[in-house]
Amino acid sequence: MAVEETLVLVKPDGVARKLSGEIIRRIEAKGYSVVDLRMVQPERSRLEQHYAEHQGKPFYEPLVAFMLEGPVVAIRVAGDRVIEGFRVLAGTTDPTLAAPGTIRGDFGRDWGLAVQQNLVHGSDSVESAQRELGLWFD
Ligand code: TYD
Ligand code: MG
Repeated sequence: MAVEETLVLVKPDGVARKLSGEIIRRIEAKGYSVVDLRMVQPERSRLEQHYAEHQGKPFYEPLVAFMLEGPVVAIRVAGDRVIEGFRVLAGTTDPTLAAPGTIRGDFGRDWGLAVQQNLVHGSDSVESAQRELGLWFD
């Protein structure tokens, strides 16, 4: 058993489309535990820290601007190999390519939406999870 914690964010598109409950339902149905949860209207500085690894990439500015559009739901999720496991539940980054059955594959691409509007964020490693959980649950 490798019990881990990960940070899940329901992004502004997920909150606006009222998918927070469905996303939490899928997390719990998989057997993971919601340990803490809060709704946050993030400041730009928090998003810059959250997405520091992407600074300078072409999609960085549109991504930060999109994340500022509305509140996000930050969720601390625990479970065996949950970091990798939640990313499987989420599906691949581009919702067009995400497999049916995943969050992004099932809900992630309405006509006209951009790649950054892909409903959820999930930490990608133990190190990122620790850093991101510290950032969103201070
Ligand atoms: P990334 O960390 O690569 O993806 P993931 O969320 O699957 O871990 O990128 C962060 C976010 O940036 C991603 O969720 C959507 C956005 N993004 C784009 O808009 N265009 C891109 O080409 C990439 C790679 C990401
Ligand atoms: Mg990422």
